[in-house]
Amino acid sequence: MRLDKYLADLQLGTRSQLKTDIRKGRVTINGTPVTQPDYRLDENRDTVTYAGTVLTYRKYRYYMLHKPAGVVTATKDNFDKTVLDLFPAALKTDLFPVGRLDKDTEGLLLLTNDGELAHCLLAPKKHVQKTYYVECSGTISQEGIERLSRGVDIGDDTPTRPAALLLLSQTQDRYCLEITITEGRFHQIKRMIAAVDGTVTYLKRLSMGSLVLDETLAKGQYRELTTQEEAALFTPLKFSTE
Ligand code: URA
Repeated sequence: MRLDKYLADLQLGTRSQLKTDIRKGRVTINGTPVTQPDYRLDENRDTVTYAGTVLTYRKYRYYMLHKPAGVVTATKDNFDKTVLDLFPAALKTDLFPVGRLDKDTEGLLLLTNDGELAHCLLAPKKHVQKTYYVECSGTISQEGIERLSRGVDIGDDTPTRPAALLLLSQTQDRYCLEITITEGRFHQIKRMIAAVDGTVTYLKRLSMGSLVLDETLAKGQYRELTTQEEAALFTPLKFSTE
């Protein structure tokens, strides 16, 4: 791997800043200063220091973002601000969002550069649980709750898979729910609520697999996953309807 890429992967700066630092002799490999940014090193064997600190290489990075409403879940967009626009340039080079939240949906979004993990979490057969807090206008009957729990026709080839529902509150013309689903169909929660004659007025994702939104993150803020969160992600729980 090229030395400047190695350092950039560790988010030590932008590629051009790092090239300058390398040329200035701030980097050593196995104790010897190396001043060529295109020097090829072995990231598993060589000992690299940057500004006197020994580095440990990490290929994959995982961040949780508290997605605010008004940004689109994409890496690039010609019209709207994207979730990646909430990250600084040096961090976001190879990140992408795992799955998609609508522009007006808030809450937990995982971003990584680990394509394999993303594939695993999104694979339909894995049935990874996603829990949403949902505010709706309209009213919902016990029968509506049961229909959503069993699986409901939202106009696709098959009904939705069983979901876990918790009615949090209900007034004359509004209600709040927590819904856990194990699929990721387009506008799934909005279409499920529409199937029982309601309208979603606010939607927030609270969790995905074992990963729970850190409520101390303000909307628009992100942080790296802890070692425990990262480890748990690799063993997502399978949803059981029993
Ligand atoms: N379901 C929706 O309708 N929208 C989202 O953003 C996520 C789930």
